[in-house]
Amino acid sequence: MYTPSESRYLSMQYRRCGSSGVMLPALSLGLWHNFGDITPFSVQQSLLRTAFDNGITHFDLANNYGPPYGAAEENFGRHMDTDWRPHRDELFLSTKAGYDMWAGPYGNWGSRKYLISSLDQSLRRMRVDYVDLFYHHRPDPNTPIEETMGALDRIVRSGKALYAGISNYGPEQTEAAVKELRRLGTPCLIHQPRYSMLDRRIEGGLTDVLKKERVGCIVFQPLAGGLLTGKYLNGIPEDSRMKTDSRFLKPDSLTEDTLAKILALKAVADGRGQKLHHLALQWVLRDETVTSALIGASRPEQITDNLAILNAPPLSGEELRRIDEILGE
Ligand SMILES: NC(=O)c1ccc[n+]([C@@H]2O[C@H](COP(=O)([O-])OP(=O)(O)OC[C@H]3O[C@@H](n4cnc5c(N)ncnc54)[C@H](OP(=O)(O)O)[C@@H]3O)[C@@H](O)[C@H]2O)c1
Repeated sequence: MYTPSESRYLSMQYRRCGSSGVMLPALSLGLWHNFGDITPFSVQQSLLRTAFDNGITHFDLANNYGPPYGAAEENFGRHMDTDWRPHRDELFLSTKAGYDMWAGPYGNWGSRKYLISSLDQSLRRMRVDYVDLFYHHRPDPNTPIEETMGALDRIVRSGKALYAGISNYGPEQTEAAVKELRRLGTPCLIHQPRYSMLDRRIEGGLTDVLKKERVGCIVFQPLAGGLLTGKYLNGIPEDSRMKTDSRFLKPDSLTEDTLAKILALKAVADGRGQKLHHLALQWVLRDETVTSALIGASRPEQITDNLAILNAPPLSGEELRRIDEILGE
């Protein structure tokens, strides 16, 4: 039986999600990697417990997280039974649909048929009656935005999700989705884009839209899958993602240019007396438009390590200028 730490709410910072009533922890935990069937249940359990014991109340899933597809939700359902049911109201759980999930024309993209049936499947796998947040995982160029947003509105009205969100939408697509959801009476709670020192695309318009529309923002891969820990500066460690599960983080991402940037960023972190990944996390959270940084972890110690940012001094103007210079902005 799991008894959460009594001090779990003492040190975490909670940030308001856009103009909503929802507060999210500065760091949230994603279950994309390390929650499939290739990771022992006990490791998954210690990751979730360590997160929650330190105030990380938000766990992020998707229908196709695994491997295989669906396994992260299935496994989470087992954790729900062993650990989380008594604490359900202290958790903010999200899932998504939008990428390929099952065979045939109804298991992908953004139709009403796909989104509603996918969430029904997710709820069964996760063994919960509702999720707090349901996302459309990526824009669908061939389905009218009215249909996709209509499905999110329907889902929220049915009580199967409390809030609706979008992920990977560009600035114009976001504007259209936010307006349509508002028209339907189900505000868009949050956008989930990729953002890190190695991928600043959202600064080219998306963050302006989110600020203007007062929509929250949870950024995924703030450590670029581990590149921004500096662990790949001297080769590929045996226990790293690139070695153990390189489906999405391939050795060809270690270009000379990227490694040079990482090395220079590490010097900035060294100058502050902190680790590179702490600098990387603080950097994505420097703008209050970003509600939360959505991290992954393969070991519980990584979660506690990352929490050091809560007590770190803010980045100075000079440090931010130097980072821009390194990143070529
Ligand atoms: N919406 C979308 O389309 C989308 C896409 C991708 C991800 N996501 C979400 O974003 C979440 C995070 O993605 P991500 O896992 O790629 O993010 P990330 O935080 O950039 O990378 C996490 C990885 O970095 C390493 N790491 C983290 N903290 C460390 C530390 N203190 N010391 C050393 N290594 C550390 C670990 O890799 P090792 O295995 O090397 O230890 C860990 O698995 C996902 O779980 C998912 O919820 C969403």
